[in-house]
Amino acid sequence: MLQIIDKLLKDVENFKAENKEQVEDFRLKFLSKKGEISKVFEEFRNVPNEQKKEFGQKINMLKQSALAKFEALQNNLGNNDNDENGNIDLSLPGTPVELGSHHPLSIVRNEIIDIFSRIGFTVAEGPEVEDDWHVFSSLNFPPEHPARDMQDTFFIEKNPDILLRTHTSSVQTRVMEHTQPPIRSIFPGRVFRNEAISARAHCVFHQIEGLYVDTNVSFADLKQTLLYFAKEMFGTSTQIRLRPSYFPFTEPSAEMDISCSICGGKGCAVCKGTGWLEILGCGMVDPNVLKNCNIDADKYTGFAFGMGVERIAMLKYQVKDIRLFFKNDTRFIKQFEAAK
Ligand code: DAH
Repeated sequence: MLQIIDKLLKDVENFKAENKEQVEDFRLKFLSKKGEISKVFEEFRNVPNEQKKEFGQKINMLKQSALAKFEALQNNLGNNDNDENGNIDLSLPGTPVELGSHHPLSIVRNEIIDIFSRIGFTVAEGPEVEDDWHVFSSLNFPPEHPARDMQDTFFIEKNPDILLRTHTSSVQTRVMEHTQPPIRSIFPGRVFRNEAISARAHCVFHQIEGLYVDTNVSFADLKQTLLYFAKEMFGTSTQIRLRPSYFPFTEPSAEMDISCSICGGKGCAVCKGTGWLEILGCGMVDPNVLKNCNIDADKYTGFAFGMGVERIAMLKYQVKDIRLFFKNDTRFIKQFEAAK
């Protein structure tokens, strides 16, 4: 009987089917109630007890391989679109290929890059894993400044000199260390802060930094550049206002608001009734920063600014929850390409 099982195993293995009928023949021959395998199971009763274990295992193996073969034969037929005679049915609908779309943050970043490149700004990038010098010290942060605090900054545990950059201002130093003025560049990139995630804040987000260093660069240049940007980005009727502020790396420093693009300045829920929306920080590059980068602070002056890409995208597209940008739900992401 062992020989019969071995022969059946070989027959199962070698069986070929080219159409549905032949697959059915296989099922009838091996797997049906009157098929070969059932017969073997019936014979099993007559096997002496001491040989039952060995036979049992063999028969089970035969059954499993016949079932697997049956499935494989069915799949083989199902996977080609040929009919029983081998003809391809050209009228079958094709498998749809879904087109991707740009992420809203990419759309906004590219638009900002485009606006500044039209007035001669180039684009540069720096590393996300940075050292204390580029993120803080070179930018005039005093040693006890709260931004260095463990609560805001992700430090690398083994070496507190290495950290994830908290802002793209670090690229200012990277560029100025290697380039003498005139410098006119923007630096887009990802930044990291040790903050609780909520509808308004995330521990990973994107910024675009701007830097312009040359002879005779004044605050008026800064104001005019930012007015141009605001009008290009939010519409020609947009107005700006600058409020005095403090950043260690600029002096004087300011925060820029734009007139609310939703209500046109009358006051609404988005601008909380003020008519103004805060969109970026800016100022004249502190001479200490220029000196730290070996740029002659008596000869050159400069301005800098930094803005959050998520914040601008949220205002532009009226997105109420920053977390939506990171969920990668295509129903959300796909909405923005056409609205560009
Ligand atoms: N780095 C600042 C931040 O992350 C933004 C900023 C403010 C950048 C003023 C600047 C600037 O270049 O001049 O909040």
